[in-house]
Amino acid sequence: MSTTTIDKMKTIKTLNNIAESGLKVFNKDHFIIDNDSENPDAIVVRSFNMHSIELGNKVKAIARAGAGVNNIPVEKCTEQGIVVFNTPGANANAVKEMVLTCLMASSRNLFDGITWTKALEGEGDQVPKLVEAGKKQFVGKEIKGKTLGVIGLGAIGALVANDALGLDMDVIGFDPFISVDTAWNLSRNVQRAMTIEQLFADSDYITVHVPLTADTRGMFNEATFSIMKPGVHILNFSRGELVNETDMAEALESGQVGKYITDFPNEKVLKMKNSVPIPHLGASTKESEENCAIMAARQVKEFLETGNIKNS
Ligand code: MLT
Repeated sequence: MSTTTIDKMKTIKTLNNIAESGLKVFNKDHFIIDNDSENPDAIVVRSFNMHSIELGNKVKAIARAGAGVNNIPVEKCTEQGIVVFNTPGANANAVKEMVLTCLMASSRNLFDGITWTKALEGEGDQVPKLVEAGKKQFVGKEIKGKTLGVIGLGAIGALVANDALGLDMDVIGFDPFISVDTAWNLSRNVQRAMTIEQLFADSDYITVHVPLTADTRGMFNEATFSIMKPGVHILNFSRGELVNETDMAEALESGQVGKYITDFPNEKVLKMKNSVPIPHLGASTKESEENCAIMAARQVKEFLETGNIKNS
């Protein structure tokens, strides 16, 4: 390879194991993947927190292989003329499947039931008898005919809302940023909540699919819990900071919130009565990791080659 060719090559740095199928998007004639580079042309990242790292002066683009960009210093990037991409929709199916799984599993007390049953290890011949006692302890609720409130009707929220209809739920949608009419492929059978307060008041289950912003931070708090139906289940596969955790702990203690299913547990969440902590598995499927990596890599490749900015 001549020196001129090498000079024209673009360096891509990837952080936290971008799926191989994404790396293949960068053809070897024009791109070098160098994860040790301190000054690459572009960075493709998953969840790594980039707020405290220096961005080299050659960096032109950062692509987040995922939806949320709160691990990227977007304002600093804008000041430095660095384009930030994300991959809206690429992991939507994975998150939707997780939300519906957890909605049903928590309603049937499945997580607590499994933990309780596992703890019977060592009880020998008594296990079948003790299992019958568990049967009474973990009586659940069916979701059929109950109301699911979906906050945020982007790629993920719209999929959740549409599929919940297929489970015979009544579904109400609210989006703080876009009108329900313009939401992603939303079924007409999803009712429109005029205000978020209406959604809070009418829902038996609430799932949230909005980004973390100054407006959404702490949107679940004492005041909003007080509007909700007692015993409501709340599912959070968006960001932990949407919830005021002190208020959530109290609402769980009093029973105002029946269950808090969250992909963003911390020490406080683990201590909460009736919390269902999940280790950020919402989008963790092989398919979703590949979709996100491929979309992020294509965005970066096209941008570096043509200057086009395509966030899809
Ligand atoms: C996202 O922002 O896309 C989700 O939180 C999934 C993830 O980062 O793994």
